[in-house]
Amino acid sequence: MSDPVLAVDGLSIAFQTRRGPLPAVRDLSFSVGRGEMLAIVGESGCGKSLTALALLGLVPPPGRVTGGTVRLEGRDLLALDEAALRHVRGARISMIFQEPMTALNPVLTVGEQIMEAILEHEPVSRKAARERTLALLERVRIPDPARRFAEYPHRMSGGMRQRVMIAMALAGAPAVLVADEPTTALDVTIQAQILSLIDELRREQGTAVVFITHDLGVVSRYVDRVLVMYAGRKVEERDTRDLFADPFHPYTKGLIAAQPRGLAARPQAGPGPAGVARERLTEIPGTVPALAAMPPGCAFAPRCPLADDRCVRTVPPPRPAGSGLVACHHAGESHAI
Ligand SMILES: Nc1ncnc2c1ncn2[C@@H]1O[C@H](COP(=O)(O)OP(=O)(O)OP(=O)(O)O)[C@@H](O)[C@H]1O
Ligand code: SF4
Ligand SMILES: [Mg+2]
Repeated sequence: MSDPVLAVDGLSIAFQTRRGPLPAVRDLSFSVGRGEMLAIVGESGCGKSLTALALLGLVPPPGRVTGGTVRLEGRDLLALDEAALRHVRGARISMIFQEPMTALNPVLTVGEQIMEAILEHEPVSRKAARERTLALLERVRIPDPARRFAEYPHRMSGGMRQRVMIAMALAGAPAVLVADEPTTALDVTIQAQILSLIDELRREQGTAVVFITHDLGVVSRYVDRVLVMYAGRKVEERDTRDLFADPFHPYTKGLIAAQPRGLAARPQAGPGPAGVARERLTEIPGTVPALAAMPPGCAFAPRCPLADDRCVRTVPPPRPAGSGLVACHHAGESHAI
């Protein structure tokens, strides 16, 4: 890859408690190039949202970034003060969330708030900002932009609100778009529309996308690479096709086996048609350990059929494997599962 737009190195995040720091994300490294889409996947609580927030300098207390760097176009965001960060957010890196109403202001019309987002980052006239807003609404395929401009967000459907949030996120023409489960609350047909819209934007505008999800099947058609997290650590990172064809980590194998029927076998198939039952094949037995009760070795050991003494004692370091990395003492042998 040429110089990555976003390069995260050794990111660690912990919650400050009376008993000392409780690590939630540990030593996480990844990078995303121009026009590339990376998925971060993993079960609830593995640290996906904390990672997303850290990319924008928004980890809420008592959480705190305790180590690492987040370089955006070469500049370490974690070293910037709040004023400088505000300048970067929205302009060079933007975020979209699962629930658009957390980002949208209920008392402003959709058009007014997109205009405000433009005016915040650029010294253009209100007339020019209005024109850009209409173009953005059209860009995210909102029908009849002139009428929608004057509408309030709560009068729109979930899918339309999600499009408005994407339009706002694009107002400053950012180099990186971080999407934290933006389709999870939507029905399958709308999910597919939003995903293909994000895919189109990155192809046409070269936006680098970090797409966070717990549903590997939904994103498999669109993403170039997948980073699998477990209990705050990266356990595998591979090109999408390779990951589906031959997952190395026992947890990744479990995740793929747990995808709804059809998606696991056909990674390029994308989301199924509306109304198709999203049947789970197998669930991974057991649960993710609590932050305060993390085992000293591999965090997956209590659920892993290959776990031995070494796994219980020492954390497996990430090492090169195929088109990426895997962190497992027995990755080469895990074909036995
Ligand atoms: N204020 C807090 N104090 C202590 N722990 C917290 C706090 N907020 C979040 N956590 C813990 O941090 C961990 C990571 O949370 P995060 O929200 O990043 O998970 P996630 O992967 O996004 O999960 P989900 O799929 O449910 O959105 C979780 O174990 C969570 O319980
Ligand atoms: S390091 Fe050991 S316990 Fe952890 S995933 Fe690999 S085989 Fe399983
Ligand atoms: Mg989350």
